[in-house]
Order: sequence, then structure tokens, then C-alpha cells
Amino acid sequence: MSNPSILILPGDGIGPEVMTEVRKVITWFGEARSIQFDVSEDLVGGAAYDKHGVPLADETMAKAQEVDAVLLGAVGGPAYDDLDFSVKPERGLLRLRKEMDLYANLRPAQCFDALADFSSLKKDIVAGLDIMILRELTSGVYFGEPRGIFEEGNERVGINTQRYTESEIERAARSAFELAMRRNKKVCSMEKANVMESGILWREVATRVGKDYPEVELSHMYADNGAMQLVRAPKQFDVILTDNLFGDILSDCAAMLTGSLGMLPSASLGAPMENGRPKAMYEPVHGSAPDITGQGKANPIACILSFAMALRYSFDMGDEADRLEAAIEKVLSDGARTADLLGEDGTDPISTSEMGDAVVAALQASL
Ligand code: IPM
Ligand code: MG
Repeated sequence: MSNPSILILPGDGIGPEVMTEVRKVITWFGEARSIQFDVSEDLVGGAAYDKHGVPLADETMAKAQEVDAVLLGAVGGPAYDDLDFSVKPERGLLRLRKEMDLYANLRPAQCFDALADFSSLKKDIVAGLDIMILRELTSGVYFGEPRGIFEEGNERVGINTQRYTESEIERAARSAFELAMRRNKKVCSMEKANVMESGILWREVATRVGKDYPEVELSHMYADNGAMQLVRAPKQFDVILTDNLFGDILSDCAAMLTGSLGMLPSASLGAPMENGRPKAMYEPVHGSAPDITGQGKANPIACILSFAMALRYSFDMGDEADRLEAAIEKVLSDGARTADLLGEDGTDPISTSEMGDAVVAALQASL
């Protein structure tokens, strides 16, 4: 049997820096655990625009469709801010999500014990936090038609459309319930059924799908209240099910509870391919961080944890994912801190590459 294949798309800003550290981890798994991957690399975002004039070349899109998993760093940066909307770096990312039909975006927000003090919230509110946001990723206002900027009388009007079919809601909801079955068996569905018809349908379909999972406790919340509850008492949640735009916002909010955006991975999953693996792309939740690019300050942990999610969700290697997550936990509890994780205690930060080395050393020590 051939090795599982991974396409690495480092992208822009700190993307390439953090991806270098992921490569060290992939190499370690090959050498120390005999788990080999066929790794290829290509361009996305501004990097692709610079070479091809588009943020994702057709050949790259085709490659992404063929591999077992895509690992993406980050896209965007000030150099590309003034580009036409149709070729902005973000369009490359959105094309991957849409054409691979990656409808289920899993964004865990976990607070590592060693970092509970870094949260902007009080320690007891976030210590031990472990929630999962299931964000619908291929529909809603991100993709709905009509969209555009149109002339209307003597002024322009900007239009985007929030649109969800029952089947789109259903498949996202099913993913949330399946996840909950493997966790603490609670799903909280968030929408704005008080003002939006799409929210009414969302609630109805989530309720109907929930009937297939009698063990899972389903609750509903308006998304604005959800945002408040996330900062008031986040530990009340297990799995949060929500749409594309609310999921974008709520997941940033949840991310910050954990102390640093530099810690959070994500998985975007679609339907199973012929080999049974889901179509999949893994990426850190953080952006390209142009302010610290090229300075060795970026925290590679979110990207490394994204690879751990790939081990778990694409390659059915839950034990190896546990091993990698435990190595990261160990490195943090031993006190290793990149600049984003520094409090007032005056510790010197370590660099991106030192953090990657520390994770590999902890992996080695785990054998
Ligand atoms: C995210 C990002 C993207 C989004 C951007 C970069 C297009 O914010 O993955 O959360 O809005 O989905
Ligand atoms: Mg976002």
C-alpha cells in the first residue's frame, strides 16, 4: 500500500515558518515511528498570486483534490490588501473549502493547564476548558447568491445572502452530533432564529437530526447570547454547532479564552473519499501575522496541533495524535514559551524553531 499523501500549502506571513516546524514533526514520525507520508508542497494565497497571478492555481486545486490531507499555514498580508477582491489571498482559501466541499469545520478550544494564567479571563473560568466548535464551512452568507455591489438609483448597494438548504444544515448537524457522541454528549446549536428565517430552519433541522441521537442533550441559543455565554461561563459547552459566519466570530472568541490564538488548530472535513478517508484540510486558526513575520516569534503549536488532528481524523492514528498532544502539553508545562505566551514574569521567549525542536525532543522522550 502506498503511503498516505499530504499536500503542504505554507501560504503567507508566518505560514512558512510554522510549517517548517510541522515538517520536523512529520520527519520524526517517519524516522522514529515508521509512519511515512508522501509530502508535497505548493503555493496558496499571496505567494500563489505572486507566481501565478491567482491565489490558487488550477493545478494546485487539482492536487488538493487528490491527496489524503491538505495542511495549510496562513494566507494574506498587507502587500495584498489592495488587490482586486477576486484575487485576494483569502479567495484561494475559500476556493479550497468550497471545491473540496469541506462542510464541517472543527475548531477545538482547549485550555492547557500551563497556560490558564494567560487567558484574558479569570483562571477558574477557563482552567480545564475543552469545547469544540463545529462551524458549517461551505455555505451561508460566505457563498450565498445574489452577492455583489450593485447600482440602485443614484447610489450603490452591497449585497450578500444568507442561504442554507436543509441538507446543508443536516450534514453539519450530523457531524456535530457524531462528535458529541465521542465527547460529553452535549450539543448547543447557535443561530438567530429570532430574526432570521435561515435560523428558524437551522433550529428545526438541528432538532430533527437530534432525534437520531437520543443520548445527546441538544440545546439552542441565539448566537449573540452564545457569544456572551462563551466569555461568561464557557465550560457549560461541549460541542457548539453553528453556521459559517457566526462560527467565524464565535471561534475567534473561544480561541482567545485559551490564552493565545497561536495554540488553536482546526480541521475542515468533507465527505468520505474512495479510500474511506474524509476529504480534509487542516490549518491553524490564527492568521498570517504580518507584524511578526520573519522574526522567529511565531508560535508553531497551532500548526503542529493541526497535524495532530490530521493523524486523528484522516489517518485513524488516534494514539499517535495523543502522543503528539501530550508532547506539546509536556513542553508547555516544562515552561517553554514563544513570545505570544509570555506573561509578566520576565521569562525569555524561545523562537519558533526552538519550540519545534522542543516538541520533537518531547516526542523522542515519549518512546
Ligand atoms: C477563518 C478566517 C477566514 C474566514 C478568512 C481568512 C477568509 O477568518 O478561517 O476563520 O473568514 O473564514
Ligand atoms: Mg476567522
